[in-house]
This record gives sequence, structure tokens and C-alpha cells, in this order.
Amino acid sequence: MDERIITPEEIEGDIFESSIRPESLDEYIGQEEIKENLRVFIEAAKMRGESLDHVLLYGPPGLGKTTLAHIIANELDSNLKTASGPALEKSGDLAAVLSNLEPGDVLFIDEIHRMPKFVEEILYPAMEDFELDIIIGADSKSRSIKIDLPPFTLVGATTRAGDLSSPLRDRFGIISKLNYYKEEELQQIVKRTGRVLNMSINGEAALEIARRCRKTPRVANRLFKRVRDFALVKGTGTIDYDITIDSLERLKVDRYGLDQVDIEYLEALINKFNGGPVGIETIATAIGEEVTTIEDVVEPFLLQEGFIKRTPRGRVATDKAYAHLKINRQSELF
Ligand code: ADE
Repeated sequence: MDERIITPEEIEGDIFESSIRPESLDEYIGQEEIKENLRVFIEAAKMRGESLDHVLLYGPPGLGKTTLAHIIANELDSNLKTASGPALEKSGDLAAVLSNLEPGDVLFIDEIHRMPKFVEEILYPAMEDFELDIIIGADSKSRSIKIDLPPFTLVGATTRAGDLSSPLRDRFGIISKLNYYKEEELQQIVKRTGRVLNMSINGEAALEIARRCRKTPRVANRLFKRVRDFALVKGTGTIDYDITIDSLERLKVDRYGLDQVDIEYLEALINKFNGGPVGIETIATAIGEEVTTIEDVVEPFLLQEGFIKRTPRGRVATDKAYAHLKINRQSELF
């Protein structure tokens, strides 16, 4: 499958993300509860002159976990050091990161649920007592040494809090779930991105991108970038409603944020299998996609938006899917 413009996961063309990232809680749009709580916890930690408790951020990809980690470090007037769960393969990898920390640093570990268990165990004493326990040597000659670490704040991010072991989860003092954004918030985010990138976009145009971005700022910003290209080359140089609709049509992102793959899935389900129920393998074969792609990438959004339902006998198309594709339901009597 080609890379999809509506995928919430980070893709190569997203490098520009860091340049449009808000840098303070005031600039960050949405997630109001998280922001309010973080403001209090950060201020209290500063008043006490202590490091902020460890923070776990979880929620679907593309909602701004990395951005929040940067903001936490900024608001604490601290430095951010970053690591990623899957890249911490050996205990030594994590020990190296930890022993490089300076007092008050924020250590961001993305995809923290993907650290191997034996690496994760190094984190427990580090988080709890700011202590690094390492074992030197092997077999009977091995001994354990303890190294003091400076006080630091771990910010962990994961898409699935359920995949985190409970000893790790229990060591976070602050656990925040990021939710999908509201349309008005996404509209504001798109307008802000326009201001930062010096490309004006009107309210109607920003709202249309907000409607089609799958409630995800990363997707909104990606769509903004492509629409900006069309506006520059084929339009008037500013982003208005018409060029936005035209660009989104060319990009094949429809008014619900469904793309070509989603539509093919729904068309197969309805036209070839009479709306289901039908097994996922059968649909996958019919549209030439991998089962895992369908399960992890295509179906979650269709389920969430109520275009399909999962039943014990397989997937079924809902009335909303029929209506969206403008297909009448065949009577089941014949
Ligand atoms: N860019 C991406 N996410 C954002 C957010 N929540 N607020 C402002 N700008 C953003």
C-alpha cells in the first residue's frame, strides 16, 4: 500500500512538524484538561524546587504527545533529551542515556511500551530513587553497582497504555490520556499553522481541512501543506474554500476524511458481499490488501466513525456506509 496522506502515524514528509510545533502551554490548542493539570503540577514543582513527577502520555498517534513533551521541558526551563523504546535494545543503551542526564532534565521516551523487559527494569530504580543499578561482569564474578542520578523527569509516550507493564505504569505520578480533537480546535490549529508558515488561510478553508483530518492535528497539518501547494501553483496564492475543496478532491480525501482505500473497502463490503457479514480475510483478498493493514490501519477509523460494525460472523456495513456511498440496501427477502 502506498503511503496514505490520512495516516495518523509519522511519515517521512512530516519533518516540518518540529518547525510548527507550539512551544508553550498557552500556544497549544485543545486537550484543555491536560493543559490545566500540567500547569498546576509544573508550577508546584517549580515552587518546591523539585523535579516534576514522571509523566505518562498515552493516546492515538498524531495527537501531540511529542509536542507536549517539548512543552513540558520548556515550561520547566529544562532541557529535553529524547530516546525511543524500540531503539533501547540493550540495558547499556538506556544506562548511557540515564548517565548523561543533568539535574532537572526531561527525558522523553517515545513508544515506551516497546522497550524490552530487561531494559525496562533499569528504569524502575532510576524513576523511583534516581539510582542506576548496573551489573558488571558475568556469572560468579558479577557484582552490582549503584550510581546516583540527578533528579529528572521522565515523560513516556505510548499509543497503548494497556501494553505497559504495571510496575512501569505505577511509577508515573501523572498519567494523561490525549483525546481526539474537536473540529473548532483543529480549525484553530490549521489557522495557526498558516500564520507560522506565512500562508494565509480563511476560516471556511481551515474548517474544511478540520473536517477531513480524522480528528488528528498531524493529518490536518499534512493536508494543509498539500493544499498550500495547490494554492500556490494553481490558485491565487492564498488558501480559500474553493482551492481547498479542489485540492482535497485531487488528494482523494472525501468529506469524512475517507481516502481511496477506505472507499474500496466499503464498496467491496457492500457490492461484493451484500454488506456482510463477511470475514476480514475475504475482504482483504477482494481489495488486495494485507489483513494486518486492514485490521490496524483501515478498520479502526471506519469502526470509530460508525461506517462498519464487527459481529461474531464478520464485518457488516452500517446504514451510514450505504448513505455515504449512495447505495440502496437490497431487500433481504429476495
Ligand atoms: N500542532 C499540532 N498539534 C497542535 C496543538 N495541539 N496545538 C497547536 N498546534 C499544534
